[in-house]
Order: sequence, then structure tokens, then C-alpha cells
Amino acid sequence: MDPIHPLVQSYSDKFTTDPESLLGEVDRVTADHPKAHMISGKVQGTFLQMLSTLMKPRRILEIGTFTGYSALCLAKGLAEDGELHTIELREDDAASASRYFKVSDRAEQIILHLGNALEIIPELKEAWDLVFIDADKPGYIDYYKLVLPNLRQGGIILADNVLFHGEVLDEGRKGKNAMAIQAFNDFVQQDATVNHVLLTIRDGLMMIQKK
Ligand SMILES: C[S@@+](CC[C@H](N)C(=O)[O-])C[C@H]1O[C@@H](n2cnc3c(N)ncnc32)[C@H](O)[C@@H]1O
Repeated sequence: MDPIHPLVQSYSDKFTTDPESLLGEVDRVTADHPKAHMISGKVQGTFLQMLSTLMKPRRILEIGTFTGYSALCLAKGLAEDGELHTIELREDDAASASRYFKVSDRAEQIILHLGNALEIIPELKEAWDLVFIDADKPGYIDYYKLVLPNLRQGGIILADNVLFHGEVLDEGRKGKNAMAIQAFNDFVQQDATVNHVLLTIRDGLMMIQKK
């Protein structure tokens, strides 16, 4: 089930600014990827870019690079001395992303890590302003626990796919990923150290602010 009506999705797409040429190219080339649906795409990407531009973050962490679309959007708002760290497990996808990062106007500020985020995050001794969680769903709670202590006060965590194709709405949900997302949403809900809002953008985006 698609949680957002397809006509609403396409209307939203139509009334959103077209991405710049590099993002358009990433989108076009990724369309041939067997997991093309994983890309953030125009609407969510524009939201990420605008939020980042408003925040002007010094340190961004992205968990789950894929072909680099969301990283390029988030990097657009970086402060002059800012850095975006992005982590990808799969070598092929990291290689694709790396090619796009190299020709981006933020090339010097994007640091791509190849490997398992659970191992890499503890090695990054940074105070995060903005974190985008967009990797394997069973890892979400662990990623949240790992990054929250190093998120500055007022900093933002965004977690993608929190509606998980509408499967979280089904009380009898059985899929491993839908159950993991439900557990994550419950975990955030009971965390008194943050404020959060579930945005019905694309597949659901949880926006969490540390108090
Ligand atoms: C939904 S895609 C990311 C999409 C990307 N953020 C975008 O909007 O274009 C999830 C990515 O996370 C990666 N991934 C899954 N588990 C991971 C892990 N433990 N560490 C790092 N990356 C992981 C996958 O290989 C996949 O490329």
C-alpha cells in the first residue's frame, strides 16, 4: 500500500522546483538501478536541501549514501567550513556516489566512508548538527542511540521511511522492516529528550529535535 495517494505524490512533484543538472543526472542514472526506489528524489531532496540551507550546519552525518542524491541535497546548505560525512556499505553504490561527489561544487566538503555504519559512526568524533538516517531499517534504533549523545542541543535527526509503505498502519504487521520501523517510532515517541514530528513526505520522514 502506498501511504500517500499517487495523485498527491505526482501533484507534489509537479509543484516542486526542478533539481539542478547534477541531481537530475543522478536521478536519471539511478532509475536503471535494481533498487532505484530507494532514492530520496525530487520532493524529499528539495526538502532536505531547504532544511539544510536554513540550518547552515557545520557537521552533517548521513547513514546510507546509496548513489548520493540526498547527500548532494544536504551538502548544499553546509556552512563554509562545514563537512558532510556519509556512510555506505555497498562498494558499487559508494563508487557511483563518489563519481558525483567529485564533480559537485561541494566536493571538498563531502567525506564518503565505505563500510558498516555501526562500526564507522563511533570512529567519527564530531558534534552533529544534522543527521539523516536512511540505511537498513532494523538498524534504526542503534543508529539513533549512537548519534543522539553527539547531536548538539537543538540539532536535528531525520529518519526516512517511517511509514514503511503504509505497513506500519497495519496492526497485524509481520514484515521484519515494518516491525523495525514501528519499534523505532515507538522508541522516539517515548524519548523525553526530543521533540518530533512525523512528516507525511514520500514514505514518511520523522524529524526529531534534541531539546
Ligand atoms: C534507502 S538507501 C539510501 C538512499 C539515499 N539516502 C538517497 O536518498 O538517495 C539505503 C542505503 O543504505 C545502505 N546500507 C544498508 N545498511 C547499511 C549499513 N549497515 N551501513 C552503511 N550503509 C548501509 C544500503 O546499501 C543502501 O545503499
